[in-house]
Amino acid sequence: MSIELEPPIAGPDGKPRQRKVRPARAKAQPEEKATAGNGAAPGDVAEGDGAAADGDFSESAPEPDAAKPPCPSVGKQETSGSCKMTTKGLVWRDPDDDEKPPIVVAGQFEIIAESRDDFGFNWGILLRWKDPDGKSREWAMPKSLLAGDGIEVRRALLDGGLYVAAGGKARNLLNSYLASIHTKARAKAVTSTGWFGKTFVFPDCAIGRENGDRVILQLPNFVDHAYNVRGTLEEWQTNIARFAEGNSRLALAISTAFAAAIAGPCGTESGGIHFRGRSSVGKTTALNVAGSVWGGGDRGFIRSWRATANGLEATAATHSDALLCLDEISQLSGKEAGEVAYMLGNGLGKSRASRDASLRKPASWRLLFLSTGEISLADKMAEDARNRRQTAGQRVRIIDLPSDTGNHGLFDNLHGFESAARLADHLRSASSRFYGTPIRKFIEAIAPELNNIAVSIKGSVQQFVEDNCPGDDCDGQVTRGCARFGLIGAAGELVT
Ligand SMILES: Nc1ncnc2c1ncn2[C@@H]1O[C@H](COP(=O)(O)OP(=O)(O)OP(=O)(O)O)[C@@H](O)[C@H]1O
Ligand SMILES: [Mg+2]
Repeated sequence: MSIELEPPIAGPDGKPRQRKVRPARAKAQPEEKATAGNGAAPGDVAEGDGAAADGDFSESAPEPDAAKPPCPSVGKQETSGSCKMTTKGLVWRDPDDDEKPPIVVAGQFEIIAESRDDFGFNWGILLRWKDPDGKSREWAMPKSLLAGDGIEVRRALLDGGLYVAAGGKARNLLNSYLASIHTKARAKAVTSTGWFGKTFVFPDCAIGRENGDRVILQLPNFVDHAYNVRGTLEEWQTNIARFAEGNSRLALAISTAFAAAIAGPCGTESGGIHFRGRSSVGKTTALNVAGSVWGGGDRGFIRSWRATANGLEATAATHSDALLCLDEISQLSGKEAGEVAYMLGNGLGKSRASRDASLRKPASWRLLFLSTGEISLADKMAEDARNRRQTAGQRVRIIDLPSDTGNHGLFDNLHGFESAARLADHLRSASSRFYGTPIRKFIEAIAPELNNIAVSIKGSVQQFVEDNCPGDDCDGQVTRGCARFGLIGAAGELVT
C-alpha cells in the first residue's frame, strides 16, 4: 500500500490517534466561559481547553455569594443554583444552610461545546471527563435526554466511568445543572459515524471540519468504540499488509476494509461477505487483519454476531461508512440470523418508542461487513424451528465465500513461514500491535478529492459488472453481488 500522508496524529487522551480536532473555539475567552445555574462556571480539568476551574470545596472554598438571588425552587425540586464544579467534582451546597455538608453530585467534568445539527435541532452538550483509569472520555449528550428524569444521562456517564451520586436529590441537581449549561463554543452534531460532506466522523474525533465547526457524534448512549490507533503506517504495511500478496482472502479482507470508507460516497448499498469454512483455517485471523485497518485495542476491532444482535442499531450507527467485523455466526440464533443480516444490509433500524413513548427516529447507516462461521447464513436460518429459508435479498446482503483456498486453509502463500498456523499466529499478534493508522491516512488522502474519486470508482465498478455480468443474462441479485466485489477490487487498487 502506498499512501503517503501527514504524520500520525494524537487523540484527546494523548494517545497517537488522529490529529486532535479542537473545539470551535480552542480557549474560551473569559466572557465565553461555560455557565450553569446562577452563573457558576463549570470546572477546567487540568490540561483541558473548556471552561474555567472553580477550585476545591474544602474549608477554603468560597462561600455562596450572598449578593446572588436565592435559588428558585419548585416544590421539593432542587436547582443547580449552588452547584459548582470543583476539583472534587460537581458539588452542591445548601444556600440556606451553611452547616449542611456539601453533596458531591458527580465527578469532575468539562463542558467543551454546545452542539446542534445542520437544521438547528438535536442540541447537545459535549462533555469531557477522566475515567478511574485516567483515560479521557468525551460524550456529546443530547439535551433531549434531560426532558425526563435523566436516567439515560446518568447511565451513560456511569458507563463512561464518571462518578454520579445516587439518590433523588443528587439526580435533580445534576439534571438542573446540565440543563442550565451555556457556552459559546459550538460543534456540529451528527448521529452516525462516517462522511458528512468532506469530513469523516469517528466516535471520538473527526477528520476535517464543517464550515470551521468541529463535527461530533452525538448519541443517547456513551460509545465505547475500538477506533483506536497504534503504530505507524509503515509498521502496519511491513507486519500485516505485505502478507496479503499472493493471499486472495487476505487481500479481499483488507480491500473490503478500505472499500467500506468509500462505499457511501459511491452510493453503493450496504452488505457483507461471509468467510465460511471449517474450524482453524484462519477465518478469524482474516477478520483481525481487516479490522486492523480501522482500529483495535483491548478487545480488538472485531465484534461477535451475538453482541451485534443485542445492540444492532448502536453498533451499526457507530460503524456507518466503516467496516464492521462480525465473528462466529454460530453464536446467533437461527431465529435472529435472517433478520439481523437483512437489517444490517438494509441500513435502517427499527422505529421504537423512547421512554417518554414518543417515537424515536430509527438509526440509519451504510456499511460493509465481514463475517465468519463454520456454516452459512442459509444453514443458520434453517436451524430455526420455523424452517425459514434464506431469501434472495438476504443472500445478496451477505455473500457466502468459502474460506479454504485448497492450499493452506485460508492462505495460498505462506511467505516463508513454516506453517499456515504460524502465519496466522503472526498476523493475529501483529493486528493487536499495529492498527487504526491505515484508514485515517486513507481518509485524509481521499477527503480533498472525494467526489472525483467516487466518480472514478463508480466507473470501475460499472466496468467490472459489465465484464463479469454481460448482457441481460444475469439477474439483479448476481449483478448486485458483482458490484460489491467490483467496489472492493477498486478500493484494493486504490491503496496499492
Ligand atoms: N490455515 C491454517 N492452517 C492451519 N492452522 C491454522 C490456519 N489458520 C489458523 N490456524 C490455527 O488456528 C488457530 C485459530 O485461527 P483462527 O481463529 O483464524 O481460525 P478460525 O478459522 O477462525 O477457527 P474457528 O472456526 O474455530 O473460529 C490459529 O491460532 C492457528 O494456530
Ligand atoms: Mg474463528
